[in-house]
Amino acid sequence: MLRIALVGAGAIAQTHAEAFLRHAHRCRIVAVCNRHTQRAQELIELLSLPAQAFASLEEAAQAVDIDAVDICLAPAQHADVTVWALEHQMDVLVEKPMANSLEECDRMIDASRRTGRKLAVIFQLRCTTPVQRVKQLLDSGRFGPVKYALVNSLWYRGDRYHDVAWRGSWELEGGGVLTTQAIHHLDLLLYLMGMPDQVTATMDNIDHDNTQCEDVVSAYLHYPDKAAQLNASLSAHGEQQELYFHTPQACLAVPWHPMAHQALENGYPIPNPEMEQAIQEAYDSIPPLEEENHLGQIANFLDALLEGGELMVDGEEGRKAIELTTAIYKSAALHQPVELPIQPDDPFYTREGKIANLPHFHEKYRSITSTLKGQIALAH
Ligand SMILES: NC(=O)c1ccc[n+]([C@@H]2O[C@H](COP(=O)([O-])OP(=O)(O)OC[C@H]3O[C@@H](n4cnc5c(N)ncnc54)[C@H](O)[C@@H]3O)[C@@H](O)[C@H]2O)c1
Repeated sequence: MLRIALVGAGAIAQTHAEAFLRHAHRCRIVAVCNRHTQRAQELIELLSLPAQAFASLEEAAQAVDIDAVDICLAPAQHADVTVWALEHQMDVLVEKPMANSLEECDRMIDASRRTGRKLAVIFQLRCTTPVQRVKQLLDSGRFGPVKYALVNSLWYRGDRYHDVAWRGSWELEGGGVLTTQAIHHLDLLLYLMGMPDQVTATMDNIDHDNTQCEDVVSAYLHYPDKAAQLNASLSAHGEQQELYFHTPQACLAVPWHPMAHQALENGYPIPNPEMEQAIQEAYDSIPPLEEENHLGQIANFLDALLEGGELMVDGEEGRKAIELTTAIYKSAALHQPVELPIQPDDPFYTREGKIANLPHFHEKYRSITSTLKGQIALAH
């Protein structure tokens, strides 16, 4: 029976706790840690967890035996808590984004290697049926190589969204729409198409004034033999979030939407319904996942710990999205194309270097900290 400590009992923690509860025969949440212990206590009571509330992981580790830690803290806290847990012989599952810099990611990966403990990163969209089916179809090469991909990661958040103390700060959140929202779709792009070798990007803040960070991004990703474009925004009604992978034969899309054209002699397009039907049949022939999103990824974490299964997203995989966001930020800040990989001597490799070199679109003028469920307290 794995003994789990949940660290951070805020917005996403309930989703995690409910996923672990589905595996009550394999694991037990023994500790819920939150700076405001009352918040931890509320989660324990809400879900009737067989757990004790603590203010920190260190405090919990002195009182109860812990095998694995699930970190649902603000991004700035991910690296230090992860390294501490790994060095105290605990396996770690950490929410996205893995950390606020490549240097922090590398410290986490190094600690995992040194200690032999597992490190997993949440990117729950990988664990969905459309993504897994499109991955299999692309990897099979049956419909040809991807030449062009388009990613729209469009979200809608009102201005008060950034009132939460850690949001809207390069130091604590690590970025804006790219780091917090679009990172899910960047991760899918990397998962399905790999890492580009050059990035050209631009970013701005046009609609959210309580944040230092960007709320709109546009990036062109160059590969030796293909290209991708990314659009991300925090001001988009409808929140269209979609990835299109175009091969010479067809387009495979997430959410699933088969499309195929063929070219007339003069190059103009006509629809290709036979190809669309062939793609649809191939897609339908791949079995759906039994568990999706957080449920699926937390089941995968438990499988890896208890049965030696492979992690769906380990530290190296989680780091890739941070490398791509770093390159996009660097390109947008310096107004020039950026080559990948980002090297350790690059100023953007560290959190401090990023903060020093990134534009501060606004300075935060309103911050709150949520303490009790449904109750907000003004911090400053
Ligand atoms: N995968 C997803 O879809 C998804 C969705 C939402 C959030 N997230 C990620 O989850 C993480 C947490 O986000 P959230 O919205 O739940 O944040 P949150 O602010 O609601 O929760 C964080 C909690 O940590 C507590 N805390 C702060 N410092 C602490 C410390 N040192 N020790 C213990 N507790 C401490 C706070 O009191 C708060 O209750 C972020 O990385 C975020 O990007 C992921």
